[in-house]
Amino acid sequence: MKCFLSVLIGLELICFADIAVAKADEPTSFVGISSCATSTCHGGVIGRGPVWNHSLSTWLANDPHANAGRLLYDRDSQAIVSRLDRSASGSREAYDAVLRERCISCHTTATAAQTAASGKLSAEFLASGVTCESCHGAAESWLVSHTHVDWDPAANESMREMDSIIGRGETCVRCHIGSRTEDGLVRDMNHDLIAAGHPALRFDLPIYLANLPTHWDDRHDRELNASSVRLRAVGRAINLAAAAKLASERASDHLQDPTVPWPEFADYDCFACHQSLSIRNFQVPLSNRKKSPLHVSDGLPVWNAWHSVNQLELRENTALLEKLSPHRSDPKQIAASGQTLAVKYRKIAQQLASETVDPREKLSSMQQRLQDQPPPVDWHQAAIEYLELDALLRDFNAMHSGSLQEPESLQELEQSLRFQPEPSAGSGGVMQSPADFDPAKFRRMILRILQSQLTSTLGQANPE
Ligand code: HEC
Ligand code: HEC
Ligand code: HEC
Ligand code: HEC
Repeated sequence: MKCFLSVLIGLELICFADIAVAKADEPTSFVGISSCATSTCHGGVIGRGPVWNHSLSTWLANDPHANAGRLLYDRDSQAIVSRLDRSASGSREAYDAVLRERCISCHTTATAAQTAASGKLSAEFLASGVTCESCHGAAESWLVSHTHVDWDPAANESMREMDSIIGRGETCVRCHIGSRTEDGLVRDMNHDLIAAGHPALRFDLPIYLANLPTHWDDRHDRELNASSVRLRAVGRAINLAAAAKLASERASDHLQDPTVPWPEFADYDCFACHQSLSIRNFQVPLSNRKKSPLHVSDGLPVWNAWHSVNQLELRENTALLEKLSPHRSDPKQIAASGQTLAVKYRKIAQQLASETVDPREKLSSMQQRLQDQPPPVDWHQAAIEYLELDALLRDFNAMHSGSLQEPESLQELEQSLRFQPEPSAGSGGVMQSPADFDPAKFRRMILRILQSQLTSTLGQANPE
């Protein structure tokens, strides 16, 4: 039997599957979207009245989450699902079984019972997508009380706290990084799903928050948005904690149920295996790769680079991260070290959230780092450098009340990271890949931007 909830106590794995199943059999505590929808509650006319009054209308009209369930029957999903189960293209029953087992935990507001083999899937259910309660928490216990004047959100644990960066980030990563235990659901973007065509998840908190249409009064967010650099750093630490926890849960679940894949390829650096064999290889020579903070030994892949390379000034944590390196593919060890790391990075996130950052200092240290080091190890690292630069430029722009021009070369830099389409062998489809990515060129470009930014910001004394 599948273990939904397992916890490592000492060296014993305790499976809480029975508890999870018992819970799943209880009536759901989700009240459903219609309970929020009246025009006096959250279904008002967009642009009229206070923002909270049209939260639902904004979500319905503009939010990608509202469409997340419906898209499970579109062409892309059909391709993914039928690669996961060949019989799914001819059988609605088989198709829905894949959706229940593999998709709806992230693409809808599902309960554990709905994801079980006996679960029911209706078109109406899928059509609601990722609804309010996926982010705000199951509302049964606060639906009535939260309309009262003396309502205190802090007093009710089942409403998720999302005022703080941490609360907000931890809400998103349950789906955008994944988890095998949160809410008693398995939400796992493993290599099976990625190889079947699902986009690999590369979550970045500031970018995703900025792309989420706000259905709240964002004047509350001033403190949170005061520094993009800080928001990114905290977001990275939250990602790392979530990814380490997921790696641990994958290991624990494999020990309980050998059909859970192990070692899990999605825990490794993708480019450890997926490399272009052409001369213009995006990997740098091995001698340089040694400089990767995670490098253990030639020929051994490092842990998922998106979450680990060159972040949080990682040096001091390298020893810890090495414990997650896939060459130590002992699931017992990774189950334990993943939990330790998750706790550690959550603390780092909290610490970072209370720090102030000087973007100018950050800019020169970034320039220093890139000057002293060989080109980025691979596409992941380059993409992370780009995002770092993006956050810095946002902060500078805020310091100058939005009057700075974005350097033109920034677009060129972004362009150099774009995945190029290439025909995919066999399937006749098109794969997107960074096979043409050139790390040395990237480094030259980003250093040029940093240099000109440094000159212009140091040139401008005390922006007011
Ligand atoms: C771990 C959570 C998770 C699971 C499991 C999951 N998805 Fe997704 N899916 C996402 C997220 C998050 C995105 C958005 C990716 C992004 O842009 O960062 C996404 C995007 C997609 C997209 C692309 C949508 C677009 O607008 O281009 C398709 C198609 C899709 N998922 C189908 C599926 C199918 C089919 C399954 C089951 C076989 C599935 N997903 C399982 C989280 C998940
Ligand atoms: C993807 C996650 C997500 C989903 C889905 C979501 N919200 Fe929110 N919501 C947030 C975040 C983030 C905030 C801002 C932080 C906060 O106020 O807690 C927020 C804030 C709010 C607020 C506070 C408004 C204010 O100005 O104080 C209301 C009301 C709200 N959401 C209602 C809804 C309703 C109704 C739905 C469903 C139609 C919904 N939300 C769906 C993430 C989400
Ligand atoms: C219950 C799972 C779940 C939670 C929680 C969740 N998301 Fe999502 N999110 C998804 C899925 C699934 C998609 C893909 C939907 C689509 O493409 O239409 C998605 C898509 C998105 C997109 C669009 C991505 C793109 O490439 O266009 C953004 C932006 C986003 N989410 C931000 C957030 C933020 C910010 C939070 C936290 C406040 C959050 N999400 C919480 C599941 C979730
Ligand atoms: C340990 C080696 C290894 C790692 C690490 C790895 N993969 Fe794979 N990947 C493979 C192999 C082998 C296949 C071919 C599987 C098959 O055909 O059954 C594959 C297949 C794929 C495919 C399908 C390609 C096609 O032509 O059908 C995609 C896409 C993919 N991987 C993406 C990724 C991503 C993204 C990552 C990082 C999160 C990753 N892989 C990590 C070994 C790996």
